[in-house]
Amino acid sequence: MKRRTTLAALAAAALLAAGPAIAQQPKLKVGMMLPFTGTFAALGTAIDNGFKLYVKEQGGKLGGREIEYFVVDDESDPAKATDNINKLINRDKVDVVVGTVHSGVAMAMAKVARDTNTLLIIPNAGADAITGPLCAPNIFRSSFSNWQSAYAMGVEMAKRGHKRAVSITWKYAAGDEMAAAFKEGFTKGGGQVLKELNLPFPNVEFQALLTDIAATKPDSVFAFFAGGGAVKFVRDYAAAGLNKTIPLYGAGFLTDGTLEAQGEAAQGIYTTLHYADSLNTPRDDAFRLAYVKAYKLQPDVYAVQGYDAAQMLAIGLNAVKGDLSKRAEFADALRKATIDSPRGKFTLSRAHNPVQDIYLRKVEGKQNKVAGIAIKALADPARGCKM
Ligand code: BEZ
Repeated sequence: MKRRTTLAALAAAALLAAGPAIAQQPKLKVGMMLPFTGTFAALGTAIDNGFKLYVKEQGGKLGGREIEYFVVDDESDPAKATDNINKLINRDKVDVVVGTVHSGVAMAMAKVARDTNTLLIIPNAGADAITGPLCAPNIFRSSFSNWQSAYAMGVEMAKRGHKRAVSITWKYAAGDEMAAAFKEGFTKGGGQVLKELNLPFPNVEFQALLTDIAATKPDSVFAFFAGGGAVKFVRDYAAAGLNKTIPLYGAGFLTDGTLEAQGEAAQGIYTTLHYADSLNTPRDDAFRLAYVKAYKLQPDVYAVQGYDAAQMLAIGLNAVKGDLSKRAEFADALRKATIDSPRGKFTLSRAHNPVQDIYLRKVEGKQNKVAGIAIKALADPARGCKM
């Protein structure tokens, strides 16, 4: 008994000697607000997997603190977004929120994060406003802005000699912004957008719109869909025979994480994105191997963004030794960092959005193979960001 007491006293003394900062660090509460149901369910799961993989690789700790997760299924529903993030902040008292996929949900989250000074890391949603008027010192993105991936494809399609395009997407923030960015790049290169077609999110009744495309006879189509909707669109486009006469292009979400289900219908489609399946770098190879081992699934762009969200959190936390009250130092470390991502190294812009290479990819078999770099080190213009 005496010996046990002495050992306990020695252990306590050792912890104190290590310094109060280490001895007293409570678990870091991380709120994961992602879609786990609906058309974006697979995207939410991949982000969650990627984030947790990085944490596991660090021995379950970031910045010296163990991680405790609080999970909310946001259902990609903007109407529930404010309540959902408020639950994480007020009920669960999380230290940081990681989320989400859908731009409309993310904008509601960003407003709450700004008002409550909650640390928010966005692992997908590309809403331009978040690196525009909604930008804030406590909000970071590990993914992209909608402008980045769609603008690059507009430029690329014009370079390929296309002159008359139709765009098609869902009617919501991300769809509207991707269509506008595509048009900006395409018209700059001398192209003309004949029609901007859309349908409400997350509808997948494409038939009338495909008939409209056939009647309009453009020389190319640009599409933004993702997840389950992307699978159905690519299959319907091919089933209508349009892929034989009018080449389909897209922001890379059209064919990322979807190729197993799209099969033959996706073959040969060119897209632009900040990740691809055949980068063949030691960093990406190691990530892909670890991901397959952990989840028995191939990773995709969403898994990479989740992984990098955790990396970014680790960079900030290491700089402040786990003390999140040092918010200015946390942000400063991220602004100066080069993030060693599976996609390739990137830095953050002044609006806290990745400055990154946008790859041109071509679907071959079950891979989005790199066909070149569409635009190197592309930065979102951060229109309206005052920071
Ligand atoms: C968005 O809503 O921002 C989004 C969703 C899925 C893929 C890409 C962007």
